[in-house]
Amino acid sequence: MIVLGIESSCDETAAAVVKDKKEVLSSIIASQIDVHKEFGGVVPEVASRIHVENISIVIEKALQEAGLTMDDVDAVAITQGPGLIGCLHVGVQAAKTLAFAWHKPLIPVNHLAGHIYANLLVTDVQYPLLALLVSGGNSELVYMPDEHTFEIIGETQDDAIGEAYDKVARVLNLGYPGGPKIDKLAKEGHPVYTLPKPRTEGRYDFSFSGLKSGVLQFVKRMERTGQEWDMADLASSFQETALNEIFDKVALALQDHPEVKSFIVGGGVSANSRLREKVQELAEKYPEIQFNVPPMSCCTDNAAMIAVAGQIAMEDGRRADASLTADASLELM
Ligand code: KG4
Repeated sequence: MIVLGIESSCDETAAAVVKDKKEVLSSIIASQIDVHKEFGGVVPEVASRIHVENISIVIEKALQEAGLTMDDVDAVAITQGPGLIGCLHVGVQAAKTLAFAWHKPLIPVNHLAGHIYANLLVTDVQYPLLALLVSGGNSELVYMPDEHTFEIIGETQDDAIGEAYDKVARVLNLGYPGGPKIDKLAKEGHPVYTLPKPRTEGRYDFSFSGLKSGVLQFVKRMERTGQEWDMADLASSFQETALNEIFDKVALALQDHPEVKSFIVGGGVSANSRLREKVQELAEKYPEIQFNVPPMSCCTDNAAMIAVAGQIAMEDGRRADASLTADASLELM
């Protein structure tokens, strides 16, 4: 089965052709980072306009690179949500147009399911599975008893972890996107500063807004009192506190779910080098569980993961018709 995947939920316009959930025949990504960098973050209105300019070119290129035409495609998979509504609309309209002009099934995909199934591009997973989703818009712990069922057992009570990385980077004047910059800077420092430890209600829930404010207050206090401080140490202290928040909850979830056979990570923050080390540490502690962190190319937004998720959703009998609309806060189910 050959699926054309289309993704436009945030600041990447992407299209990919994937065969049988494994073989990526093409994956084209037009990133808008250079434009949004100037504003210190994604400007939704600007992002939607650039998607409009790029979407046809990106789709055409994906088909061309795969050496195929729409006639060879068996289904069109599209990110329906969650994401920025104006951005999602562009992809949804493009996918609808293609699907109905070429009489192909249209498969709606949840962006987060895409990040989970991105792992299938590089490994086989076993169920029950525990997935840690960490991106600029989401921080979730998802339990999957089987390939088609998602149970969100933990989520952020406020900011997503990527959002916290980006905001802290802004406080430190590191530029956008902040995640990779803090990741790099933290390697030169040590976690010597004590920052507020997040407090949460749910057993596996996360919180990052207090930590983010803690960093801002720390900088203000140092500036006010004229004390010396080290930016790399602060980056390292923030990163360690944020990741400990995540991994404390992951450890609890693994302890409470001894039946889990695979643990996977998805979303842009899974590109983080310290997070990868922490997954490695967990893997050594739980040799009976299969751990997977996808390669960097699969971590950030792309359409190959949407094509894989589309085929899985299709096998589960999911289809959309001409009434499909984008949903900015689409639930994972
Ligand atoms: O999944 P993604 O590409 O977009 C969505 O949010 O859907 O994730 C982008 C986020 C940004 O917040 C970015 O700062 C963060 O992922 N990120 C990182 C790293 N690379 C990207 N955060 C920490 N360390 C990194 N190396």
